[in-house]
Amino acid sequence: MKTSVVDHPLAAQLLTRLRDKHTDRAVFRQAVEELSVMLLFEATRGLVSEAVTVETPLGPAVGSRIVDTPLVVPILRAGLGMLGAVLRVMPGTETGFIGVARNESSFQPEPYMNAVPDQLHGRQVLVLDPMLATGGSLEHACRILAARGAGHLTAVVVLAAPEGLDRLAHSGLDLEVWTAAIDERLNEQAYIVPGLGDAGDRLFGTA
Ligand code: PRP
Ligand code: URA
Repeated sequence: MKTSVVDHPLAAQLLTRLRDKHTDRAVFRQAVEELSVMLLFEATRGLVSEAVTVETPLGPAVGSRIVDTPLVVPILRAGLGMLGAVLRVMPGTETGFIGVARNESSFQPEPYMNAVPDQLHGRQVLVLDPMLATGGSLEHACRILAARGAGHLTAVVVLAAPEGLDRLAHSGLDLEVWTAAIDERLNEQAYIVPGLGDAGDRLFGTA
């Protein structure tokens, strides 16, 4: 499995804002969106394009058009914090939704929603979730997508833990991961250290 860390001063600054426990919800949400765009640009570098010609006021110009836009699948809830930014950059993109809540005692993913097309016919899928901790939630989502015939899976995450990356590397999934950082480890509650805390709660509250 290929794992890529987006190493850019603007990304590092946004990540620092997310880590800071004094960052309020509004600023946190905005930083997640801005960082998601940066990660998305890097993660989609390999999209296939075809040549198209348009007319500028001065004559024809050869440009390009993406041939197959990937399906985008945020993992609820926290993945929703990344979705708006992705849809602003790729507005015509079809979106599926997978809902998983991690059990905070067993750390196992507990699925509660699955709204993705039945047949994906080899389509590329971009999976969004800010946090890759044990990797259980992302693996669950990717197995659903693979079982429905997804082609290459690209996970875009803000932060990853080595334990989760290792699990996914041994999962047999056709997956690559793009992240802003790989942190040190998981703690006893399977939270990423130093991490940024609970991404869903910081984005949406605890209601
Ligand atoms: C968080 C996060 C990931 C998951 C990561 O979601 O957004 O989905 O935990 O942990 P894992 O890699 O150990 O599975 P959570 O289950 O807290 O739900 P939420 O998004 O609704 O807050
Ligand atoms: N989920 C989060 O939101 N944060 C972590 O550190 C681990 C799982």
